[in-house]
Amino acid sequence: MNTQIFEMEEHNIDASKLEKAGEIIRNGGLVAFPTETVYGLGANAYDDTAVKKIYGAKGRPSDNPLIVHFAEVSDIEAVAAEMPPRAHELLEKFSPGPLTVILKRNDRIGNTVTAGLDTVAVRIPVNELAREFIRRAGVPIAAPSANLSGKPSPTAPEHVINDMSGRIEAIIAGGECDVGVESTIVDMSCEPPTLLRPGGITLSELRTVLPDIVPDRHILQSVEENERPKCPGMKYKHYAPDAQVVVIEGKIENIRRKIKELIAENSGKKIGVLTVGEYSYSGAEVILSAGGGNKEYAHKLFFSLRRFDELGAELVFAEFCDDEEYGLAVRNRLYKAAGGTVIHV
Ligand code: TXA
Ligand code: MG
Repeated sequence: MNTQIFEMEEHNIDASKLEKAGEIIRNGGLVAFPTETVYGLGANAYDDTAVKKIYGAKGRPSDNPLIVHFAEVSDIEAVAAEMPPRAHELLEKFSPGPLTVILKRNDRIGNTVTAGLDTVAVRIPVNELAREFIRRAGVPIAAPSANLSGKPSPTAPEHVINDMSGRIEAIIAGGECDVGVESTIVDMSCEPPTLLRPGGITLSELRTVLPDIVPDRHILQSVEENERPKCPGMKYKHYAPDAQVVVIEGKIENIRRKIKELIAENSGKKIGVLTVGEYSYSGAEVILSAGGGNKEYAHKLFFSLRRFDELGAELVFAEFCDDEEYGLAVRNRLYKAAGGTVIHV
């Protein structure tokens, strides 16, 4: 398949290209598009045959449901069985934006999107290209992240082009994603409301509307074989580069001491380090900085994981310091990238 690339900037929208992208969706095709979090791989959420193609293009397990994207909060009612007042309040406060809300669903949405669950995940991205694309399509867009299953989510057009060329009809190439990790997922179909995935909206922001929200324990704990987590995606190894990733967390001086030891112990391997701030390790061939704070870390994380692979790193040590605000989202993605290999120092 020849994949069309529609290149444009968020603040310089090419309406005719988005119209073509919308037409591909109405005709049952797949289009990758930028959002403020990561790139999505979209299909018409009302067309089960089109949605099935998403699973094929990504190599995604069919028991992992998709998020349905809308242009406006008011459009969500089309797929929800009910809109609890607190869910509405949450959406009004943080949407459009990097938030996904789980609601009880109605029959408009098929079983392929929801993987047979009686709930549906809904989200209104704030990225203007995404919203205008959804408006032009004229239907809600079911979309997971636009990476091959298991790979880091794509945060730049070249990531999507690498993973999806030849597999889908079109890619809207609209620059780098601001947030860099996926949306915050809140389950509002249960009591108390539950944080299923930390992301662009932080726990303390959520608590301003939902003081009783509880974080699901699987955010930082791996899922055992016989468990069925509330968010099916939790049980899969995610965001994994080809390199083996090890997270080293604690106080920065302890982290550095430990990484120096580890570099010495693994001297035969091509070693990468993802640093907090700038720091140089002798013996490491690829050093990438994740910036100063966790907001910047989130922005750079997936990009860096892909970069380590491009540069041939075999073993990557990732420094991680604190859990404030964006820290929970970063830590959750790092733990998954490392498949749970975490050293506390
Ligand atoms: O930022 C984002 O959320 C991006 C952009 C493209 O919007 N999308 C994204 O989709 O990250 P994906 O498919 O990579 O992750 C969606 C997660 C999966 O872990 C899935 O299991 C969970 O949402 N999910 C979807 N529907 C659900 C439901 N009804 N109940 C619980 N979890 C659900
Ligand atoms: Mg994903």
